[in-house]
This record gives sequence, C-alpha cells and structure tokens, in this order.
Amino acid sequence: MMAKQIYKIAVIAGDGIGPEVIAEGVKLLKTVAEEDGRFSFEFTFFPWGCEYYLENGRMMPENGMDQLKAFDAIFLGAVGNPCVPDQISLRELLLVIRHGFDQYVNLRPVKLLKGVAPPLRDITREEIDMLFIRENSEGEYSGLGSWLYQGQENEVVIQNAVFSRKGTERVIRYAFDTARKENKTLTSISKANALNYSMVFWDKVFLEVSREYPDVKTYSYLVDAASMFMVKDPGRFQIVVTSNLFGDILTDLGAAISGGMGLAAGANLNPEKTFPSMFEPIHGSAPDIAGKGIANPFATFWAVSQMLDYFSQEKWAKRVLDVMETMLVDKEVLTPDLGGHSSTSEVGDEMISRIRRKKSY
Ligand code: NAD
Ligand code: IPM
Ligand code: MN
Repeated sequence: MMAKQIYKIAVIAGDGIGPEVIAEGVKLLKTVAEEDGRFSFEFTFFPWGCEYYLENGRMMPENGMDQLKAFDAIFLGAVGNPCVPDQISLRELLLVIRHGFDQYVNLRPVKLLKGVAPPLRDITREEIDMLFIRENSEGEYSGLGSWLYQGQENEVVIQNAVFSRKGTERVIRYAFDTARKENKTLTSISKANALNYSMVFWDKVFLEVSREYPDVKTYSYLVDAASMFMVKDPGRFQIVVTSNLFGDILTDLGAAISGGMGLAAGANLNPEKTFPSMFEPIHGSAPDIAGKGIANPFATFWAVSQMLDYFSQEKWAKRVLDVMETMLVDKEVLTPDLGGHSSTSEVGDEMISRIRRKKSY
C-alpha cells in the first residue's frame, strides 16, 4: 500500500471575519481528505494578526518567516483591524509573506459561477470567465520611498515603484505559459501613456516575450480602458497579466462583476516551490460584519480549490467548485450577501454534507 501523502498547512486565520471563514475552509479540507483517503492535512495554527500586535507590538514573531518555511502551503484568512494602522498590519504580515517567499504570481479567477445572478445587464455568464495573473512581488508595492520634512510646510512624500527585468519578465512568461497551456488569449494591462518608465518598460517586455509565443493571441490595454471594458464587454478577457496595483484594483472590480467579495479567491504562488505558496480569499477582514456569523465562506472554499489544484488534486479542486455551484443554483443555504439567510457555519456544514454525498453533480 502506498504511504499516505500528508500536506502540512500553516493556518493564519488573522482578523475580523478571517477566523470565521477559515474555520469553514479547514472543515472542508479535512472532509475532502477523509473522503479521498489517500492524503491528509496536518494543520498548525498561528495566532498572528492585529490582536497579536496589540499584545506583542509585532504582527508575527521575529522568526515568523522561519517558522513558516517548512510548510507545504499557507492558508490565510484576512488581516486588518481598525485599531492598528493598515500600513503596519498588512505590510508586516501579508506583504512580508508574499514578498519574502517570492510568491510572485497572484492567480485570481474572475468567473461567474452558475446560480449567481448576473450583475451586468446584457452580459451572458460565459462572457465572465477570466484568470488574472497579478505581479505580486514588486511594482507599486515595493514599499520604498521617503517622507521628508514631515509635518512641515515643505513636506514631500515619495513612493517608488520597482519594475525589475527579472520580476517583470517572469510573471509575463508565466502568463504566456498559462495562455498557451489553456489555449486562451492573453491580455496585458498597463498605462504607458502616463507612467513613462515603469509601464513603457512593462509593454516592452510583454512585446519581447510575446515573440517567443507566436501561437498565443495577445492584446494590450490601458488600465482605464480595460476597467471600462470589464464592465461593458468582459468577454474580451481570458488570461490577463498586469502589475501589482492594477491587479489589486481590477480584481475587486472582477469580484463585483462575478458575484461580490464573498466569492473571490486568490493563490499567491512561488512557482519554483522554493518557498511555500499561500491561499486566501481576496476580501479583507470586513469589520462591518465581523462577529455576526454571516461572512460568506465561498471565497475561502474557492481558495481551498486552488490549494487542491496546487497539490495536483485536480479532481477534488473541480469537485469543490462544482459543489459550490450546486449550492448557488439551489439557493437553499446561502449567506445574506448572496440573498440568503444562512450563517457562515451553516453554509460550511451544507458544503461538507454535499461533498460527502456520493452522487455526482
Ligand atoms: P473588505 O474586503 O474587508 O470589505 C469590503 C466589503 O465587502 C464590506 O462591506 C464587507 O462586509 C464585504 N465583504 C468582504 N468579504 C465578505 C464576505 N466573505 N462575505 C460577505 N461580505 C464580505 O475590504 P475593506 O473594508 O476595504 O477592508 C477592511 C480591512 O481589511 C482593512 O484593514 C484592509 O486593509 C484589510 N484588507 C485585508 C485583506 C487581506 O488580508 N487579504 C484584503 C483586503 C483588505
Ligand atoms: C488584496 C489586498 C491587499 C493588496 C492589501 C490588503 C495589502 O487588497 O490582497 O487584494 O493590496 O494586495
Ligand atoms: Mn485587494
């Protein structure tokens, strides 16, 4: 008999609704493993986040990254609490992990699942099916800059964006490989008409790399026009590659056109597997609904599906999405953001019971 594969998962539930949705995600992963029988998950929970900060003055221990290194994946809820400035809480936890573990690919599907009421008039479900590949390690998120003469009349703030040859080329190449593998078109989104260094460089690299992939049909849009087309004609987009900040903004727009923040997930990948990759819902800690038990766990389930894909458990990755779709179609057990009346854990329990049912969907 083959030895059981054990995946070691570091769980950082974080703040606000983070722990509420992650609890359901962990339940789902355990159920999938039990049903399969050939693999299991070993979870280690890290109580890091804003409460940890308020007690210890840090978002994670000094050796936090060393502690995470040995895991096969990180499962993250959300970070952020009105009591801690966002530029501390996010930069000292979430972004440290993305940058420190060189998770330079942020995969964010924007797909209108069956059962979700189409948010855009005159747009069919099939037209909203894209995969964003967001640069996730540098760009506008480099964190470099200075604040001179603070508080004085002549104060000056400088925020530097960093686009390295290596960083730009590798994410664009990843996007071309994905488009080639999936036989889809590839769209680059940039802004060279105003950002005369960074985005001119981005476009140049995109063009250079495109020459190695003559079989991939490409498009290039300015970010303002791309935002407009995502609403007016989303069918134009299949695989999309863009910078860190543009990808952040456009994927919230993507969430809005595909059912809301409660459904949007993201995988932060270190494709070389030198470091662990991280899976998370893309929403934040949602202080407005935290503690009420009504957060939608579907975004977290989609992140679970991405994690299963990453572990080459494609059959289960697909099944998780398929079962989510059956729940969206039936509309019996959904959270209020999707028009339902159920709680986070009721949605989680229903998901698990449907995963357990042997019938195929
Ligand atoms: P948010 O995503 O937390 O919330 C935006 C809106 O979407 C809110 O009305 C919220 O109730 C709703 N929403 C989000 N997730 C939901 C879910 N699962 N189910 C139902 N409704 C949901 O964004 P925000 O309010 O701009 O940010 C709140 C905090 O989270 C801030 O501190 C921010 O910096 C942080 N943040 C963290 C992450 C992360 O950890 N990955 C991502 C985004 C924002
Ligand atoms: C996201 C979030 C983060 C980002 C924030 C919280 C730093 O908005 O994951 O989309 O901008 O990447
Ligand atoms: Mn975001």
